[in-house]
Amino acid sequence: MVKMTPDELRKSYIDFMKGIGASQVPSSSLLPENDPSTLFTGSGMQPMVPYLLGEKHPIGNEIANIQKCLRTVDIDEVGDTSHLTFFEMIGRWEFKANENNYKKKQIDAIWNWHIIELGIDPGRLYISAFIGSDDLNIQKDTEAIQIWSEKFKSVGIEPIIEDDPYKYGTSRGGKIFLYDEKENWWCRAGSPLDMPVGEPGGPDSEMFYDLEPGGDSLDHPASVSERFLEIGNNVFMCYKKEDTRFVKMQNPNIDYGGGLERIATALNGEKDIYNTAFFLNPKKKLMELSGKQYTDDLKSFRIILDHVRAATFLINDGAEPANSDAGYKQEGY
Ligand code: ALA
Repeated sequence: MVKMTPDELRKSYIDFMKGIGASQVPSSSLLPENDPSTLFTGSGMQPMVPYLLGEKHPIGNEIANIQKCLRTVDIDEVGDTSHLTFFEMIGRWEFKANENNYKKKQIDAIWNWHIIELGIDPGRLYISAFIGSDDLNIQKDTEAIQIWSEKFKSVGIEPIIEDDPYKYGTSRGGKIFLYDEKENWWCRAGSPLDMPVGEPGGPDSEMFYDLEPGGDSLDHPASVSERFLEIGNNVFMCYKKEDTRFVKMQNPNIDYGGGLERIATALNGEKDIYNTAFFLNPKKKLMELSGKQYTDDLKSFRIILDHVRAATFLINDGAEPANSDAGYKQEGY
């Protein structure tokens, strides 16, 4: 695997995506502009919503970027090896895509960057995909499953499909795991039934890195364990909600997002995201200021590192401590 500094990793991603036709856009602010529905930018797709809904993007239909994100929903998880509130999300979008090849184009691009450019071992890559739903009248994502299968076959790996991950974990050799809409559907509302009329969404296909090959065979990508680290999510935004039905969009969108610090964790070959170069200098400074070692109190160190980083980026984007909106500080904290 290729060891890279954060800057080299950012450049590698953007250069690769530009090389296959994407135009780069800069990160938007952590404080969303013209979007009162949320306090912070929590994913790369948020500033893209108008274009995902059909507006023409001024620089074209294929876009790549690295978006600063803040996800307070994960705040209680911070302190473990992998969760952050602030993170950098690499993204690739294709608007008004060709429904005949958009999934292949996305999976080709993202496979090639991870496996060929970064040298990630495909043996440690696991995939999830949508199993389909009779209730929603939406079929299994056989197209994505087929494309990923071809990728694994091309490197001599048998693409075993596991359709009962909760029962069998990896014990039957699964590489591609099928889940229902709770795991493999993406829309802003979270679940397909909560989508408002006119909202786009669709099945997604997540990528996981195995941090513990040969670990508990009943673990699987969506299980609550530290074995599988989610490193990216390919959303095939191809349905629009109409009344109570889901209607296929003629020109679907790609919404891909990957966690840069998590990809660096995979490249680092160890579980702790705070041991990547993204945290090297702040960690040194915190040890100096506290007179303690990182390993003396991992949880506290991680929480401080994460929160100081998040606050720094928020202040940089203009947030000020306040008793309302994005500056709100909860009583007692
Ligand atoms: N919008 C997708 C996500 O945030 C890529 O997971």
